Amino acid sequence: MRNDDTPVTLDLFAEQAPTTPGQVEQIGQQAFVLRGFALPWLERLLPALENVLQAAPFRQMVTPGGFTMSVALSSCGALGWTTDRSGYRYTAHDPQTGRPWPDMPTVFRELAQAAARQAGFEAFEPDACLINRYVPGARMSLHQDKNERSLDAPIVSMSLGLPAVFQFGGFARSDKSLRIPLFHGDIVVWGGVDRLRYHGVLPLKEGQHPRLGAQRINLTFRTAG
Ligand code: SIN
Ligand code: FE2
Repeated sequence: MRNDDTPVTLDLFAEQAPTTPGQVEQIGQQAFVLRGFALPWLERLLPALENVLQAAPFRQMVTPGGFTMSVALSSCGALGWTTDRSGYRYTAHDPQTGRPWPDMPTVFRELAQAAARQAGFEAFEPDACLINRYVPGARMSLHQDKNERSLDAPIVSMSLGLPAVFQFGGFARSDKSLRIPLFHGDIVVWGGVDRLRYHGVLPLKEGQHPRLGAQRINLTFRTAG
């Protein structure tokens, strides 16, 4: 774990993933990094992801402030998170096609539930999976996930492709944040007393991932409705 005063060295990324699959790192009272947790699921996960993206391709959305997000988004499940000039919200339909968002694949739900359970959250029933695509330079500024109707359920967030530095902060934007390198297959779960922590992703570094190329894809599962 690092804080904002500690520079993240570049050779952090020289190795593919200098972490041990199966390792669990506690980053808050009810917040954990599950290293490599998704790796055994990838042969089922990646084809399902491809299907979802065929039905609901990545698109760049505009924030209420009028900025185009550097991260491209898609969604699956009953509800999809969207943003435009009039605000952030969950919708049952893809605003781009007018069709319902693609169903959440069974493998997505099962993996998210297994990760939640490993982090101490039983009976997680996600109804929304936000799919974020980062290309080099793309970033996600510090924010809280608070558009969900109930805050009882945790957030389950999976990393695929290029590594990124995840910021995990406090309950005010200005609080110090940990900087946590995340690699292909890692899952972060936070909920309970840590549910409203600020978090973000530093600009993605250039690179080529053997499986996913020059991008990072993040799947974020939530109970939104
Ligand atoms: C998010 O907070 O929506 C994305 C986090 C990540 O990409 O790891
Ligand atoms: Fe978030």
